[in-house]
Amino acid sequence: MKDKAQSETLLSVDNLSIGFSQYIGGLKRRTIQVIVDLNASIGHGEVVAVVGASGSGKSLLAHSILGILPGNAIMSGRMAYGGEELTAKRQAALRGKEIAFIPQSVNFLDPLLRVGKQARIGFDRKTAAARQRELFLRFGLKEKDGDLFPFELSGGMLRRTLFATCVREGVKLIIADEPTPGIHPEALNEVLTQLRQLADSGAGVMLITHDIMSALKIADRVVVIKDGRTVEVAEASAFEGQGEKLAAEYTRNLWRALPENDFDLMFAGDGGNGHVA
Ligand SMILES: Nc1ncnc2c1ncn2[C@@H]1O[C@H](COP(=O)(O)OP(=O)(O)OP(=O)(O)O)[C@@H](O)[C@H]1O
Ligand SMILES: [Mg+2]
Repeated sequence: MKDKAQSETLLSVDNLSIGFSQYIGGLKRRTIQVIVDLNASIGHGEVVAVVGASGSGKSLLAHSILGILPGNAIMSGRMAYGGEELTAKRQAALRGKEIAFIPQSVNFLDPLLRVGKQARIGFDRKTAAARQRELFLRFGLKEKDGDLFPFELSGGMLRRTLFATCVREGVKLIIADEPTPGIHPEALNEVLTQLRQLADSGAGVMLITHDIMSALKIADRVVVIKDGRTVEVAEASAFEGQGEKLAAEYTRNLWRALPENDFDLMFAGDGGNGHVA
C-alpha cells in the first residue's frame, strides 16, 4: 500500500453540495439538498473506499466527478484533478480515457452492442480483439460471451463486463460504483486484486461499496458518508478491534455491527448482514 507521505493528491472534492430542483404544484419550485459540504480526496496510488447507507449520496458523488449529473441537479463546490480545476470541459475530455467509470447500474452498457465489442472500445484496433478476450477470461467470462448482447448476460456477468471495459492503459483515476454485488467470490477477489494493482501502478481508485470488509482488503483510506455529508475519513488500519481508533460514533457502530466483529445487532442498521444498508 502507498506510503501516505508519498501520495500526491490526484483528485480533490471540496465542499461539494448537490440539490435537486423540484416542482411542488403549479410553478412553485423548491430545492432538495442531497449532498452538503462533502469532502473527499484521492492520491496517486491510493485506494479510497466510500461507504455509506443507501441514498447517502455515493453515486451522486461519482457522477459529479465524471460530470454526468442529471440536468436538474444544482451543484456547488470545488473539484480539482491533477492540480487543476476539474471543469465540465475537462471532465468530458477525461471521461472514458484518464478517468474510468464502473457504474452501479448495468444500464450504462449499450443494449444494442455485443458486449465483446463494448469491451474493445479504447483499445488499439489491431490488438483489441485479443485483449478483450484475455480480459474476459481473466474476469471469469468465456470467450463466446463476447458475442452476446447485454440482455443475454446474468447480472454477475454484466458486472464483470463493466469491469473489463475500464481496464485500460492511460487510466489514472478509476471510479468504481458498487462493482462487486452479485459476483461469485473468485471474481470478487479478482476485481479487488485488479483495483489494488491499478493503484499500485500509480492510479487513484475510488471504490464505492456497501461491503466494508471487502473494501478494507484493498483500501488505504475510507470516507464514510451519511445523509450527503462526510462523517469521517479514516485510515483503513483504524478499522480494528472495537473501533477505538475511529473518530465518529457512526463509523464505530458500522464497524461493530459487522458479523465478522461481535455481531452487535444493537447497532446493526442493516440487520447484521455485513453491509451498510
Ligand atoms: N435525479 C434525482 N432527482 C432527485 N433526487 C435524486 C436524484 N438522484 C438521486 N437523488 C437522491 O439523492 C440521494 C442520493 O442518491 P445516490 O444515488 O447518490 O445514493 P447512493 O448512496 O448511491 O445509494 P445506493 O447505495 O442505494 O446506491 C437519494 O436520496 C436520492 O433519492
Ligand atoms: Mg449508488
